[in-house]
This record gives sequence, structure tokens and C-alpha cells, in this order.
Amino acid sequence: MLVCGNDILIPASEQGYGVGAFNFVNLEMLKSIFESADEVSSPLIVQASEGAIKYMGLDICVSLTKAFAQKYPHIPVALHLDHGTSFESCKNAIDAGFTSVMIDASHHCFEENLKMTQEVVQYAHRFGVSVEAELGRLMGIEDNILVDEKDATLVNPKEAEIFVKESGVDFLAPAIGTSHGAFKFKGEPKLDFERLSEVKKLTKIPLVLHGASAIPDSVRESFLSSGGDLKGSKGVPFEFLQEAIRGGINKINTDTDLRIAFIAEVRKVANANNSEFDLRKFFTPAMQAVKEVIKERMQLLGSANKI
Ligand code: G3H
Ligand code: 13P
Ligand code: ZN
Repeated sequence: MLVCGNDILIPASEQGYGVGAFNFVNLEMLKSIFESADEVSSPLIVQASEGAIKYMGLDICVSLTKAFAQKYPHIPVALHLDHGTSFESCKNAIDAGFTSVMIDASHHCFEENLKMTQEVVQYAHRFGVSVEAELGRLMGIEDNILVDEKDATLVNPKEAEIFVKESGVDFLAPAIGTSHGAFKFKGEPKLDFERLSEVKKLTKIPLVLHGASAIPDSVRESFLSSGGDLKGSKGVPFEFLQEAIRGGINKINTDTDLRIAFIAEVRKVANANNSEFDLRKFFTPAMQAVKEVIKERMQLLGSANKI
């Protein structure tokens, strides 16, 4: 059943577990995500970026998700706009049927970020749609980073408190040292968990971890054995994801892990038979691999068996 983001994340926040928010760009990804949730009985957030919407079409994103939500009525699922960059983008998603949106104005100054977020909240809440915003910049932090530099990059907990109070936003993504993609940390993985706990204490709302892909060894190995190159790749270790949940994170944004797992299988089929051109021969093992990653993640985050 299609529900608003709050219906998924308020229980997660109250009970202290995490829900993966999985990105999709096509039927195969969405099918893998829904089948995984069904098989491990997990609530679900599926999300589409502006790029994904451009690729698929806004109406198709919504109708595909609705078709799966209808097929699996026992799965509570929110359809979320990932990294909306403007009021228009959020409004279009809401008008089309998205049940949750992110307004990402984190690259603007605090006042502008707050103003843009307030506008989106005002519109979204009229339709029962939840809103996520972001504070700080998504960047890896290193051991030798200066305190000033850290403060300039990561979320400021006091600002987060004011921001949440004045915007009425439902979820907040605080920058604590993660970044998007496969190359998250130059040295040892490091996140600012103290800052995270402070933000949770002062805001008390569900928090979001962007750039939460883990690049587990099994996924990396599979990509490498297919002939892919992932030199220098590093994800967020599983135990960091669990510690983040203990610190107040409830929405765990995951895209890169799924992409890597999918493409590894596609390349393996291509390598094994260079005269193969039946799309299903490529995508069936690719979906299976993606499902394994998602189901394992749902268990790890604690959302499995919550429905
Ligand atoms: O946060 C970024 C997501 O992984 C979506 O990426 O803009 O390439 O669709 P994308
Ligand atoms: P990853 O690149 O770590 O999968 O992060 C995805 C994300 O944050 C989507 O908003
Ligand atoms: Zn993100």
C-alpha cells in the first residue's frame, strides 16, 4: 500500500530501526526492491532522483510504483523524490503522486535553505506528503581534518535544532561524513557519530543517512570478477550503519551497491556469451544479485519482519 514517508519512518524512529531507501531507474530495479521487501517482510521506501525521473518519465515512476504497491498490498511503501533541487521539482512530484519529497537546498546558505524548505513543507503538508531536507555538505572526512574545516562541512547541531523547528520538516539529512558513490573515504572510514547524536537529541525527528552504500566484499568481488574496475572504492562499513541507527538514523539511502551488483551480473553474461542478445538472460541474474544485496541490508538495518 502506498503510504506517506512518516508512516514508514515514525515507527522506525520510535522503535530504533533503519529502513533502506532504495533508488530505482527502471522496472528491473523496482521489481527487485519490491520482491525483496516481500520476501523478508520489510516496509519500504523507493526513491527516484531527478535524473531517474528524466530517464523514466514522472508518470511512469508513479504508475510503476503504484502497480507494485497494488501487487503487494501488505507492504507499506513510500515513493520519495531524492534530492529535489527546487520547489517546482517537489511540486511536480507531489502533484504526480509521490508521497514524500526531499528538497535539497544544502548548498545554499542556511537562510535560503530554510526558506526553500519552508515553501516545500507548506505545499507538501496540504497533501499529507512528508518532506526531507539536508544540512551540511556530503563529503568524506579524514582523521587529520581540522576542527574548523569539519565545522564548515558537517551539520551544525544547533542550526539543525533551529532549522527543524522553523521549517516543520519531517526528516533531516545531517552531513556527518558520508558521500555519494563508490569512493567515500580516502583513508579509514570515519563518521562523526557524536555530532549525529547531538542532532538527534536536539531535533528528535527521523534522520537520514545519504551515501550509505557499504560496498560489501561480496559485491566488490563480483564486480571485479566480471572484469570491472573499482580501484580505491570504499563504502560505509556495516557496523557503522548499525551505529548510525543507534545514533538516530532511520532512513538509509542506498543506490551505488545496487548498481554495482546489477552491472557485475550483466557483464558476466556478456563475457560468457558474446552472441547473447536476449535482454532477459542479462537482467534475470542481475535482479537476483540486487535482491540478495537488498534482503541482506534489510536484515542488517532491522526493517525485516516489521510488517
Ligand atoms: O544521490 C544520488 C543518487 O544515487 C541518484 O543518483 O542522480 O545519478 O540518479 P543519480
Ligand atoms: P550511495 O551512493 O552511497 O548509494 O548513496 C545514495 C544516496 O544517498 C541517494 O540519495
Ligand atoms: Zn543522496
